[in-house]
Amino acid sequence: MKDESGVKSTLRIFPEQWLNPIDFRNSFDHPERPFEIDLGCGKGRFLLARARKFPETNILGIDRLMNRIKRLDKKIVRQNLFNSRVLRGDGYYTVTYLIPPESVDTYYVFYPDPWPKGKHHHNRIFNELFMDAIARTLKLGGKLHASTDHLPYFQEIYKLIKADSRFEETETFVPSEDEVSDFELIFAHKTPGRCSFVRR
Ligand SMILES: C[S@@+](CC[C@H](N)C(=O)[O-])C[C@H]1O[C@@H](n2cnc3c(N)ncnc32)[C@H](O)[C@@H]1O
Repeated sequence: MKDESGVKSTLRIFPEQWLNPIDFRNSFDHPERPFEIDLGCGKGRFLLARARKFPETNILGIDRLMNRIKRLDKKIVRQNLFNSRVLRGDGYYTVTYLIPPESVDTYYVFYPDPWPKGKHHHNRIFNELFMDAIARTLKLGGKLHASTDHLPYFQEIYKLIKADSRFEETETFVPSEDEVSDFELIFAHKTPGRCSFVRR
């Protein structure tokens, strides 16, 4: 979307429909470049740092909170980070129904909501169906990086992916200081669990 002077005023994606797959790579100026997704991008500290550092990689931030997406959109426009896009949507739905097969190079899922009470665990995003969607949409050789300070949830995530023959553990992704996500900064006093897997 451009304003009267032809300058991009938003880098938000507004899908025309939500029922059939959408190749979000085509929303970028250079669709052929590597395509990464920050799922549950929140306020976007990680996404902004990565977009600045890797201008030749496209990165899409997805979050279900409208205000976070609107604020992050303003930041990426202000910083001219044209290799970034943001989408307000549910991560599970988007990965399951909208992202085309074998289209994603890297998923980052940092500090997913832990839903600490037992009766709420069914709301956690990591489960077998979510892994089916991640496996379907990652390119072969593509990577999934996850982290959380909630160690019981981390153990659950790690066990789930480790037991999945479609994935192989790889060198753990550790963000550099400037890339540390907003939630990791808030919980900097706690050592998070981190893991990284590659799609076989
Ligand atoms: C704890 S915050 C972490 C944000 C960011 N990844 C970070 O590390 O700072 C979790 C984020 O995921 C978003 N979120 C939770 N469930 C989601 C879902 N199903 N789909 C999309 N976003 C979701 C929340 O709105 C929130 O912004």
